[in-house]
Amino acid sequence: MKSITQDELKTLVGQAALQYVVPGEIVGVGTGSTVNKFIDALATIRHRIKGAVSSSNASTARLQALGIPVFDANEVGELAVYIDGADEIDGRGYMIKGGGAALTREKIVAAQSRRFVCIADESKLVQMLGGFALPVEVIPMATQRLIRQFAALGGVARVRLKDGAPMVTDNGQHLLDVTALRISEPLAFEDQVNQWPGVVTVGVFAHQKAQVCLLGTAGGVKLIEY
Ligand code: 5RP
Repeated sequence: MKSITQDELKTLVGQAALQYVVPGEIVGVGTGSTVNKFIDALATIRHRIKGAVSSSNASTARLQALGIPVFDANEVGELAVYIDGADEIDGRGYMIKGGGAALTREKIVAAQSRRFVCIADESKLVQMLGGFALPVEVIPMATQRLIRQFAALGGVARVRLKDGAPMVTDNGQHLLDVTALRISEPLAFEDQVNQWPGVVTVGVFAHQKAQVCLLGTAGGVKLIEY
């Protein structure tokens, strides 16, 4: 029997997420290859929703190309649901996000939403966060000091590069990717790093954790509620 590919798992969870979209409302939309599958599925019911609040320029472009109106976060109130992927998710719904560089806007839209529905293939499920290099969006003038602060925690922080130069986010800032961390207390870790001057957003989503995960597995989509 032909085994199911990671891309097919992403399609499955992207489609499964449609059941959480509230008719007539505005939906919060994340960023990444899994979310792209969700956006494609959302386009099939676009006449049943008012539109979306997007977490990145890339998602905005895809939503608009498919005829889904995109609202500014400041134009709308609380959203019923935010649907996004993750780089890692643990057994409590805590996540690492930002592999696609959109962590700041993702956290903003997640904070504006009553429910975070994470869509992920089973490779993202972990016992403890920290295997995936932790993305941190930073103000460029703080970069070297922040690299030293992560080193004091045992982490190895590197500036994310694009075409040989520091990658610039949608917000005009830079990114660090931090390896060699074991994040056993995600809430405390997020609080700690958030206090360091120059940190825009740390890619630990503990305060904005998932309430639901739709996990793509070889046996189908598994529903996990936290
Ligand atoms: C983007 C993100 C993504 O949700 C995360 O990187 C997962 O992406 P993908 O679905 O492509 O694996 O946080 O900033």
